[in-house]
Order: sequence, then C-alpha cells, then structure tokens
Amino acid sequence: MKFKRVGLLTSGGDAPGINPCIRAVVRTLLFNDVEVIGIQEGFDGLIRGEMEELRARDVGGIIQRGGTFLRTARCPEFKTKKGQREALRELNESGIEGLIIIGGDGSMRGAHVLAEYDFPVVGAPASIDNDIWGTDMSLGVDTALNTTMEAVDKLRDTASSHQRAFLIETMGRGCGYLALLVGVVCGAEIIITPEEEFDLDEIADSLEDAYARGKTHAIIVVAEGASVKTEDLAIHLNQRNIGFETRVTILGHVPRGGSPTAFDRMLATRMGVAAVEALLAGESDVMVGLQGNDIVTVPLEEVISRSHTPNPEYFAMAKMLAR
Ligand code: ADP
Ligand code: F6P
Repeated sequence: MKFKRVGLLTSGGDAPGINPCIRAVVRTLLFNDVEVIGIQEGFDGLIRGEMEELRARDVGGIIQRGGTFLRTARCPEFKTKKGQREALRELNESGIEGLIIIGGDGSMRGAHVLAEYDFPVVGAPASIDNDIWGTDMSLGVDTALNTTMEAVDKLRDTASSHQRAFLIETMGRGCGYLALLVGVVCGAEIIITPEEEFDLDEIADSLEDAYARGKTHAIIVVAEGASVKTEDLAIHLNQRNIGFETRVTILGHVPRGGSPTAFDRMLATRMGVAAVEALLAGESDVMVGLQGNDIVTVPLEEVISRSHTPNPEYFAMAKMLAR
C-alpha cells in the first residue's frame, strides 16, 4: 500500500525523548512524500478530531525538549467500543491511512485495539518506568535515570553532613527498574521495589547495623509501587532508635521532564525512523523496540501480554556492594 497521509499521536504518561521521536517520524514521513497529521492529546484528541497537518518546520527546535509538543492524555473513553468507533470514524473522515503511536504499555494496548479493526498501526515505547515488554529500553528511561541520580547524589551530600537516613521515593507504579538502577549507580544502602517483599523491622535492623558499623549516612530508594510505603517506613524508623535521623524526599514527576539525554535522543531518532519504515513497508500491529543494539519490531499481541522486569542480578549486586 502506498500511504498518502499518516497520523501521529502521543499517549499516556509523557517521557523525555518523545519530542525527538516525533521529529524523526515527521521528517521521515515527509522524506517519503507522505503527508503528516499530528493528533493532539492522545486518543482523547483523536476522538475529538483535534488534529493538524505537520510540516518539517513544525518539528524544528524540539529535539532537545522534554515532554511532548503534541501533548498527551489518559482517555478512559477509548477503552469503550463507542470511543473506539468514534476514533476510527475520525481517522477515516480525515483520510488518515495509518497511525504511529508513541506511549506506554497502556497506549500499546490502545494501538492493538485499532490494529484489530484492521487499521495500520505501529507503536513506539515511551515510559520512564521501563515496564514495556519487547524493548530493553523505552524512551525516557535514560533521562529519568540521570535526573534521579543527580537528585540522589545531592541528597547524599546533606545526608552525610547531618548523619541522616534519607528515604527517596521514585516513580515506578508497577516496575522497580528506575529505583533499582538508581540504587545501584548511587550506592544506596537499601532499594525497595514492587518486585520484592520487605519487612519494616528488617529494614530498621539493617540501618541500625549500618549506623553501628560507622556509616555516616544512609540512602534508601523506594519505588512508589513497592509494598512498603515510604511514609509508613519513615514512621517506623522514627519509632525505632536506629541512630540516624530520618528524612523523606518524594521526587514525584521531576524525572518525567528535562532535556532528553544523548542516549534518549538517539534511541528516539532510531525508533521514529524505524516505526515509519515498518508502517510504509506494510507492517502493522507491531511496536519498535531496542534489543541489544538492534531496533526490531515486536507484535503488539506479545508486547501487551507481559511486562519488562528489572534484571534480578542487579538486586543481588546492590545488596553485596552496599556493605
Ligand atoms: P501509558 O500508555 O503511559 O501506560 P495509560 O495506561 O493511561 O498510559 O494508557 C494510555 C491510554 O491508552 C489510556 O488512557 C487509554 O486511552 C488507552 N488504553 C489503555 N489501555 C487500553 C485498553 N486495554 N484498550 C483500549 N485502550 C486502552
Ligand atoms: O507510567 C509512568 C508514570 O510516571 C508512573 O511511574 C507513575 O506512577 C505514573 O506515570 C503517574 O501518572 P500521572 O502522570 O498520570 O500522574
């Protein structure tokens, strides 16, 4: 099929790297003489027909910007048959013949739904959680990791000045990848993620031992989706006499913004080009992914059937090195 007009939308949680990916998608489509329609605010904007033609100049000056200039949204309505039919009607009435969707695992589920209506779709993974199956790294992970690392390093400075234990909560609702990698690269004493169970007293005992061994401070990284809640742990540590004073920092959405790193800009560019080339070559119902150093396409059925989880070896390595 020779495409004349292809749409592009960004959906779900945003991530640094989406803008460079948008730029690569637009410029590659235009290079192939395909008209580009930018759809604002994800599936919500699609249902409302919020779209405009994009030209080369429209994506100038965005490669270094975090966020998504097409904006994004979470759209429960698209989980309904009615919403899906309205979206398809908008696509057909606007002459859009194929779609590139950049987003997280939920957005890939949305992409698969459109593909099941025989609408040509290719996805690109974007999520700072790195929880998307089929790709070693999603867009935004490297930037979020570096942003969080810089924050933890700063907190370690003040923790060691005051002999404090800092509980630092990162994002990661269902996947502890960000917390685990930050814990390793920042030399955290304890890393708490959704993948493992933790006991409040065991954590307190471990910190008490660390204080007794002469540690001048302690860094405890907690993923927001862990079974142990940061606030509960802080209360428990204050009730125990572990030696350290305890302070809490919730990083929240800070790692969701910021200028994408060189790694994320390169990954975004490669994924954007590959997504367009796959669509124009007739592929559909797939997502581009990084596997090793290769950009491959993975069936969306497979992508949405499971989640990407952190390498278990990293947990053991972190524990061994935190003595
Ligand atoms: P993310 O893409 O970051 O995981 P969400 O989980 O909110 O964010 O998914 C983004 C959007 O994708 C949702 O708001 C919804 O519009 C659509 N979506 C998610 N899951 C499904 C599904 N099972 N069926 C249809 N659409 C879905
Ligand atoms: O999916 C990425 C993510 O940042 C999660 O880590 C976090 O729990 C969630 O999005 C926050 O969603 P929102 O931006 O809608 O508050």
